[in-house]
Amino acid sequence: SPAIQPVHNSTNANQAQLQTSSVTQHSRRKQQEAMSCAPVRVNAGFAAGVLFALLVCFILQQEVAISGLSVATTAAVAQWITLKQLSRDPAAMQVIKAPGESETLVASDVQRTPDIEPIQGSDNGKVVCNTEGRSRDWSETCEVDGDVRTNGTALSVTLVPANRSSERREWMISPYPRGGQSLRSVTVTQLQDRSAAPPCTVTHTMPAVLFGIGGYVGNYWHDYTDMLVPLFVASRRYHGEVTFLVSNIQHLPRWLVKYKALLHGLSKYEVVDMDRDAYVRCFPRVTVGLHLDKELTIVPEKVPGGPLTMADFTRFVRETYALPRGAPTREPGKKPRLLLIHRGDFRRFLNEQEILQAAEVAGFEAALSEPRVNGSEVEQARLVNSFDVVLGMHGAGLTNAVHLPPGGVLIQVVPYGKMEYLARAEFSEGATDMGLKYLDYSMSAEESSLMEKLGPEHPAIKDPESIHRSGWENMFELYLKQNARINTTRFAPTLVQAFDHLRQQ
Ligand SMILES: *[C@@H]1O[C@H](CO)[C@@H](O)[C@H](O)[C@H]1NC(C)=O
Ligand SMILES: *[C@@H]1O[C@H](CO)[C@@H](O)[C@H](O)[C@H]1NC(C)=O
Ligand SMILES: *[C@@H]1O[C@H](CO)[C@@H](O)[C@H](O)[C@H]1NC(C)=O
Ligand SMILES: *[C@@H]1O[C@H](CO)[C@@H](O)[C@H](O)[C@H]1NC(C)=O
Repeated sequence: SPAIQPVHNSTNANQAQLQTSSVTQHSRRKQQEAMSCAPVRVNAGFAAGVLFALLVCFILQQEVAISGLSVATTAAVAQWITLKQLSRDPAAMQVIKAPGESETLVASDVQRTPDIEPIQGSDNGKVVCNTEGRSRDWSETCEVDGDVRTNGTALSVTLVPANRSSERREWMISPYPRGGQSLRSVTVTQLQDRSAAPPCTVTHTMPAVLFGIGGYVGNYWHDYTDMLVPLFVASRRYHGEVTFLVSNIQHLPRWLVKYKALLHGLSKYEVVDMDRDAYVRCFPRVTVGLHLDKELTIVPEKVPGGPLTMADFTRFVRETYALPRGAPTREPGKKPRLLLIHRGDFRRFLNEQEILQAAEVAGFEAALSEPRVNGSEVEQARLVNSFDVVLGMHGAGLTNAVHLPPGGVLIQVVPYGKMEYLARAEFSEGATDMGLKYLDYSMSAEESSLMEKLGPEHPAIKDPESIHRSGWENMFELYLKQNARINTTRFAPTLVQAFDHLRQQ
């Protein structure tokens, strides 16, 4: 079939993005051990003395165990996503070098302005902390308004009152939005009186947003879900007039390089490396931490400074990357284009060529994304933007859909084992909010490599709910590590649905 064009070598769409740095492997494995829920049995008593952490783990586990019935809570989903990263097969991780890794975005020095005191407000300012994420093991965030001073060495943000205020208060805020991480916390303090305040070395007239690089950063889905979307929510209102204070950069220095264009789209100024910042910086406002409202999307009414949507976010990305297409192909006689996301580790398609042929039969021009070690984010985004459909197995590669033109289609193949609820939690609402049509296709047992490996009588095949009940670890090991041989006859209607959607517009 001449129309099948494997995408050439310089057009990675996924693989590089899925890899995470080996620098973080060790600590992740340690966390995995620490956070494992496996020893906790479903029938363990609620006896006094059960460690709180284990109890939380147990409750979440129970909730996910019944996720097949679609009653899992958002907290359980968040926990699943966190633990899922910890379960990654270290052998599947590799170090990748980004182009221009040695480049730096970080302000090398700043002009010292030692004698300028910030304009002293007549009020005492205020600290407003958002604790909504607590129940989901998501970070809390604080917005500090007034005479605000940062100390990078101490990783502290201090509100200095105009006059003596009633009480001294303190909060510990993780600068990374997903819980269970070992990033150093930011100490947010509301002082009682001015005399205890550190003098300003540098005075900024613009606000700042403080966040940290850590956790699952380096995984493409987490890059967008945990960092870029929340950062857009926190800073878009400032139209570039905002400083980013970044902690823990050494976790993955190339992250700032990779997303340089998007960061510059949100802040016109160089990033401040908080861990090496020797100054006391004074700001009229500092937002501490990034707030996650929902996975890979935006809750418009929760955006400070006015509603923004996920469609606004993808528009911002298209503008920043100069992606040409804001709508799918409409020219008569031109076939819509489908990109099949290749995976190299587990959850692979064992019959990629057959799937591509089925897509051609359905009327698409189909191509396979190929891994590229030297992937540039902008080039990759341009490649994806030239397609109308992204098709792939559940995994970070589906995040590429953020670069599709609105009106396009995301097709998620859901691994066998009653994984619909969890798979959808990561992509379904986000894709819809981006203006895409979201479709999913649930693998049958016959399409799973587990069938061949375990036989039809194994509980993993016959009774997925029992695997869910037995704990997270088994779910990872079985359902996230299977491969798929898609039955293209069974899959054909999904392709037709995607095609019809594009033709109806
Ligand atoms: C602080 O003191 C100044 C003058 O000393 C006064 O004008 C101002 O209203 C006071 N502010 C508060 C919040 O009490
Ligand atoms: C920042 O805080 C650290 C630790 O409390 C302190 O030793 C240092 O002097 C502070 N830096 C400045 C510039 O005040
Ligand atoms: C990555 O880029 C470097 C330098 O540009 C080149 O030497 C190397 O072959 C590239 N690697 C791959 C896998 O394309
Ligand atoms: C593929 O799916 C079709 C339609 O569901 C079914 O009739 C057929 O038996 C399946 N083929 C295999 C090899 O399982």
